[in-house]
Amino acid sequence: MKRPAGESFSGVLDTATLLRRGEVARDTHILDFEITGGHLPAAPPLPGQFYLLDCGGGREHLLRRPMSVHGVPRWGEGDAMLRFMVQEVGWGTRRLCSLEPGARVSLLGPLGRGFSYGGGGKRLIVAGGMGVAPLFFLGTEMDRSNVDYDFVAGFGSEADYYPWLGDLGVTQEVYTQDGSVGKKGIASDGARDAMERNNYSAVYTCGPEAMMEVVASLAEKKGVPCEVSLVSRMSCGIGACRGCVRPGRDGENLCVCTEGPVFDSRMVVWGR
Ligand SMILES: Cc1cc2nc3c(=O)[nH]c(=O)nc-3n(C[C@H](O)[C@H](O)[C@H](O)COP(=O)(O)OP(=O)(O)OC[C@H]3O[C@@H](n4cnc5c(N)ncnc54)[C@H](O)[C@@H]3O)c2cc1C
Ligand code: FES
Repeated sequence: MKRPAGESFSGVLDTATLLRRGEVARDTHILDFEITGGHLPAAPPLPGQFYLLDCGGGREHLLRRPMSVHGVPRWGEGDAMLRFMVQEVGWGTRRLCSLEPGARVSLLGPLGRGFSYGGGGKRLIVAGGMGVAPLFFLGTEMDRSNVDYDFVAGFGSEADYYPWLGDLGVTQEVYTQDGSVGKKGIASDGARDAMERNNYSAVYTCGPEAMMEVVASLAEKKGVPCEVSLVSRMSCGIGACRGCVRPGRDGENLCVCTEGPVFDSRMVVWGR
């Protein structure tokens, strides 16, 4: 089975300063960090790559929390600005979403393999809920590279809708479960419609596993390559602890932090 084609870096440990934070949707914040005087890799992070963020808490909460890169407003020699989108679900994310500008946060990255979006043809991006964090970044990079794509996004309701989606260079097909924004339904409904109407050269998806499973199966039936971004509980982020490993379709183990989080959908065992 094909291994993921995106780039992989071993990340570096840096300390970043929070420049600003704002709530953009229910319990969901955008955080802009600045890194100055760091030892940054020459190339900026790719869509789909992530950082491990220290949420504080000392011995009680040793593990850093994985967050996808949501944008890279600036990337220079030892000087960068990084954007994350964080949804409050527990202790660590609540800490991140209550930081004030000027707060110093230790982060490790960029880590993992991102999406591979070279080549020609029209692409389809399918985001469910927080899957929008890496996929919005993918959309902005496709805009920059003049890649032709459609964007389907699904949210619970209007309160969860991400208003910055309108900044993308394409019209988005939006679904909410209660029909308060866009069409009533879920992102995989939109993916099905889009794949019936168009011929895509590749599909990219991130969100709830049940949604990614449907999207991957639709793409596989059509013979279209599909990349999925998996979520796993992580501790080291560098392939050492094996805590993030999950079984693959060929009986091999998938190390989500180093071989992923983006995988060819044909490598993934769903419904765990
Ligand atoms: C590669 C990767 C990229 C991610 N990118 C983002 C992102 O851009 N934005 C974002 O908001 N979240 C992202 N997540 C999920 C995020 O890491 C978790 O929500 C976070 O670690 C929870 O920490 P906590 O201390 O707030 O929750 P905890 O207090 O540890 O747990 C609270 C609840 O969250 C669940 N949870 C904890 N960790 C995870 C996890 N890794 N995945 C799924 N559920 C979890 C727990 O089961 C529990 O129900 C990403 C996860 C991965 C693996
Ligand atoms: S988190 Fe340790 S091996 Fe992936």
